[in-house]
Amino acid sequence: MYVVKSPLADADLKAVAEALQGALVDLVDLSLVAKQIHWNIVGPRFRSIHLQLDEVVASARTHSDTVAERASALGVPPDGRAATVASGSGIKATSAGWIKDTDAVGAMVEALGAVITRMRERVAATGDPDPVSQDILIGITADLEKHHWMFQAEHA
Ligand SMILES: [Fe+2]
Repeated sequence: MYVVKSPLADADLKAVAEALQGALVDLVDLSLVAKQIHWNIVGPRFRSIHLQLDEVVASARTHSDTVAERASALGVPPDGRAATVASGSGIKATSAGWIKDTDAVGAMVEALGAVITRMRERVAATGDPDPVSQDILIGITADLEKHHWMFQAEHA
């Protein structure tokens, strides 16, 4: 079904749609992983990391909405279904159960690092076909890198 007319040519749209869909999947999973750890963290640093994780959740939810709606605006239907997220995410699966505060920080360093690597590839891939989408992805990546810095600082 052809509903929303895209301002982009077909070849450009394909590359941009792939980047936005990939970002959507990673960001939805990031929000889920951060919540999972928020609920399961234990240890002396519980309070600060528990609260910090909700800041990541808030960022990831906001950013996932932004990239999904950017896809819609380009005429590409976003896919944020659980099965799509589970099969496409770049974040390693988290194990079930309690997680020690130090391991929680390590898991977030790894998860954010994985998403950032893929986001930077998407920034590179969208510059030519659609600098408007690239601009969105750049802003999101900068915010993710801020969160990444903070968890790395705690991991030192
Ligand atoms: Fe909570």
